[in-house]
Amino acid sequence: MAEQKEDTQRERFKAFSHVFDEGTLRAIHKESSIGSFEALQSPIKIGKEANVFTAVKGDELRCVKVYRIAANFKKMYEYMASDPRYTGLKRNKMSIIYTWAIKEYRNLLRAREAGVKVPKPIHVFKNVLVMEFIGNKEPAPQLNNSSPSNPEKFCETLISNVRTLYQKAKLVHADLSAFNILNHNERPVIIDLSHAVDLRYPNANQMLERDIRIMCEYFKKMGVKKDYKEEVERIIAK
Ligand SMILES: Nc1ncnc2c1ncn2[C@@H]1O[C@H](COP(=O)(O)OP(=O)(O)O)[C@@H](O)[C@H]1O
Ligand SMILES: [Mg+2]
Repeated sequence: MAEQKEDTQRERFKAFSHVFDEGTLRAIHKESSIGSFEALQSPIKIGKEANVFTAVKGDELRCVKVYRIAANFKKMYEYMASDPRYTGLKRNKMSIIYTWAIKEYRNLLRAREAGVKVPKPIHVFKNVLVMEFIGNKEPAPQLNNSSPSNPEKFCETLISNVRTLYQKAKLVHADLSAFNILNHNERPVIIDLSHAVDLRYPNANQMLERDIRIMCEYFKKMGVKKDYKEEVERIIAK
């Protein structure tokens, strides 16, 4: 019986074998064997740095982010080398990519524990991160593809989440844009925390300023008037 189950799983993963290298297939299989999910279902996004899938776990859906081995690991290295949490980082490609995945897992956890609306991280192994699926059967759309019906309120909630991320989780997202925010039932969920940096990072406040400027520019097109510098001050103020 167990063997039969194993075979079915292998069959299911075969469908994705053209997308993954051997090591990644093994990591996916491992995640499944420890019960993070039963099977990958369908791709949500095939990207440059990561491929994102839905996966089935009982009656639930989960989200699986697989960082590509061909990703730009040199950029990842430069990025992490200035983060005090990763001072001993090795220069080897695989360990950089695995650390990048762990970094996103930890950032999600820190954000989540602080009360920020981000997907709940479930498990990470090598380059495979399993997290909560955001959506109602279909994945929630990126803000970029789904303008909020009340932009003012959406923007306020978003900024308040960024403030909690800063004040409580002590993190700056550092890649915030309408692509990395999901519109889930008219509420923002912040995703893609792989770039997020600790407040001790040398340019953390400049990164915050950039994030908030980009968001204010986006909401300005929807008639929401915000002075981004004032918003940054509100976020930083104790
Ligand atoms: N937890 C999730 N639930 C639903 N969809 C998700 C989730 N995480 C990511 N996605 C989808 O996958 C896309 C890519 O994920 P992201 O983490 O932004 O990776 P990338 O590094 O490729 O930008 C997102 O824009 C979103 O559409
Ligand atoms: Mg993204």
